[in-house]
Amino acid sequence: MAFAKLLLCFLFKLVPLLFVLHHGASAHGLKVGFYAKTCPRAEAVVKEIMVETLKVAPSLAGPLNRLHFHDCFVRGCEGSVLLNSPTGQAEKNAAPNSGLRGFQIIDKVKTALEKECPGVVSCADILAIVARDSVVAMSGPYWEVETGRRDGRVSNITEALQNLLSPLSNITVLKAGFARRGLSVKDLVVLSGGHTIGTSRCSAFGNRLYNFTGKGDTDPTLDPEYIEQLKLKCKTGDQNSHVEMDPGSFKIFDVNYYTLISKRRGLFQSDAALLDDAETRAYVLSHANTYGTSSFFKDFRVSMVNMGKIGALTGTEGEVRKVCTKKFVVDHLVRQIRYSEDGTVIKQKYFEDPGGTTFQSCEPHLREPNSIARYKPFEVLGSNVKSV
Ligand code: HEM
Ligand SMILES: *[C@@H]1O[C@H](CO)[C@@H](O)[C@H](O)[C@H]1NC(C)=O
Ligand SMILES: *[C@@H]1O[C@H](CO)[C@@H](O)[C@H](O)[C@H]1NC(C)=O
Ligand SMILES: *[C@@H]1O[C@H](CO)[C@@H](O)[C@H](O)[C@H]1NC(C)=O
Repeated sequence: MAFAKLLLCFLFKLVPLLFVLHHGASAHGLKVGFYAKTCPRAEAVVKEIMVETLKVAPSLAGPLNRLHFHDCFVRGCEGSVLLNSPTGQAEKNAAPNSGLRGFQIIDKVKTALEKECPGVVSCADILAIVARDSVVAMSGPYWEVETGRRDGRVSNITEALQNLLSPLSNITVLKAGFARRGLSVKDLVVLSGGHTIGTSRCSAFGNRLYNFTGKGDTDPTLDPEYIEQLKLKCKTGDQNSHVEMDPGSFKIFDVNYYTLISKRRGLFQSDAALLDDAETRAYVLSHANTYGTSSFFKDFRVSMVNMGKIGALTGTEGEVRKVCTKKFVVDHLVRQIRYSEDGTVIKQKYFEDPGGTTFQSCEPHLREPNSIARYKPFEVLGSNVKSV
């Protein structure tokens, strides 16, 4: 025990160096089976909870899939969409995220994984695996999820407002939004197919039914018969009623989404906009009215993996949270002050010391054996610094 402490005291000098090396070594990113050694049952644990959850509440498949998308488009796939803010300033507090659901299922999965292998599986990876399992449960494709993401420590309401795409977006904005994250036009048209499952609130498309250009008119690009059906569900001013995005098969992951768009029944302007670009239009039409799903499934697997790479933190970046809604708690902030012989301060360093046991226990003379510099005993500046 004493030896271990002593070792830590010396090692700590090397910490900055180790960080650099380790970071460099893992910068290549994500891989399938990242937890094969550290938590071999990780994906099995997620699957068990997902199967059990969606058996009783299949309508959570859409929301659970969408969480990963909304995570990835703001700061990358690093779990920031899950963080809570005591002052209501987190991503999840932004209006475009107000319809997100299923957070309690993510918490349930995390709790189970913390029991299985504490501190190992990141919340960002949980979102990626859950997104896959929610599609599988709705009879969609299975793909190998790349893992190894770490969790970010920043969740900012303004960034969510700036980075999430509006359902009013035209094709130019959609293409630019995907391109900015390294995703192609094909990824855009394929991933939009995620709207084959789930529901939407009237607020996302109500303008198309009642007041499209501010003159009490309807959207001329939307099928008039469909408008009449939608008006039955969404009365004037109704923001919160839910409508199936793929009526009749909103619990089945299929190509019906593309059939609907080709019939001018895409629910959002952003769905309909896929007819306004040659490449996306060709994709929509080639998948409309087909009963086979294999080419869409193949594409969806690839595009989901592409999306999962956006801004991923790896190696020693970020952290692995214990609770997905909270940043890791920094127990102790430690300051080390280095003095020259005449007592002037040469350098101050600050360290986070989770648990508060590593640095406090160092003997002063062990801190820098070959230097004439002196150190004051390590000072604990604050303990139990609560996360926000
Ligand atoms: C291309 C730009 C996209 C826009 C503008 C968009 C917009 C929206 C909107 C407005 C809703 C309804 C939300 C509500 O009622 O609060 C929605 C729902 C949904 N979106 Fe998207 N989306 C986009 C792309 C995607 C992608 C890439 C995926 C996944 C791969 C996805 C998956 C879903 C799912 C599953 C739902 C249903 C959620 C539920 O049932 O609660 N969306 N989307
Ligand atoms: C949130 O993000 C915005 C936009 O990038 C930035 O101006 C603001 O300072 C950030 N807020 C916090 C608390 O970091
Ligand atoms: C698309 O929307 C953006 C932002 O609202 C707008 O500036 C642009 O002119 C629109 N492009 C087209 C082709 O309508
Ligand atoms: C329609 O939009 C216009 C312009 O935004 C607004 O002045 C008008 O009150 C709206 N009408 C209804 C019925 O909401």
